[in-house]
Amino acid sequence: MAVRRLAPAEQQPKAFAFTAENLDWAKGQIAKYPDGRQASAVIPLLWRAQEQAGGWVPQKAIEHVAEVLGMPTIRVLEVATFYTMFNLEPVGRLHVQLCGTTPCVLRGADALKKICHEKIGHEHHVTADGTFSWVEVECLGACVNAPMAQINYDYYEDLSPENFTKLLDDLAAGRPVKTGPQIDRQLSAPVGGPTTLTGDVGTGAPATPQEPALADSDAKRPGAAGNVREEPTPKPPAGDGSRGRRSTRRE
Ligand code: FES
Repeated sequence: MAVRRLAPAEQQPKAFAFTAENLDWAKGQIAKYPDGRQASAVIPLLWRAQEQAGGWVPQKAIEHVAEVLGMPTIRVLEVATFYTMFNLEPVGRLHVQLCGTTPCVLRGADALKKICHEKIGHEHHVTADGTFSWVEVECLGACVNAPMAQINYDYYEDLSPENFTKLLDDLAAGRPVKTGPQIDRQLSAPVGGPTTLTGDVGTGAPATPQEPALADSDAKRPGAAGNVREEPTPKPPAGDGSRGRRSTRRE
């Protein structure tokens, strides 16, 4: 892991302030926390600042977030420099985060790194037309489909020099691309289809026809928000024999 520093002064904008819409949104985030705990909103506010600034966090944005949250600037700087999700220098319209951790390297990430050097230049460099930048990152948690890269908000997996080159060309040209596995694989299932439990259990007979396989887009369909709580289990009616039974539930 390299030392993470702010971009040099000549790249820093002279000012930064949230747009009216983003400021309203920021106030909504801050209101989620109890009085005196507004600093807890630092990560979502830095993320929104990064989006507003075009994919990176300038020094003035860090100072602005500190001001909005009533925090010392150094505390916000600590967060921005610790988490690699915050880019500290300008990035291209398509920012490639190439995984360079062992499983991806064993599956060919070095060849992809060479392509990044050839097509984009050295790490952190933004191409002259502003289209691409790239950086090597640690494991992004998709090792089962290694090697992989994240480009802006999407993962692209099962990369090879050929499909990675085409992917970069298609993205740059605005052509539609497929996210997720770039080979004929359903999500992270075995290549070529199921390899286990392929017959009827017990009989060994051939499998009965199955539902059509899930597509990537189905799997990414948003479900209930993580903070939605389940309904509590209804209490048993009085007199059903459960009186006096010791409950382990916390009310
Ligand atoms: S090692 Fe590359 S995603 Fe985990």
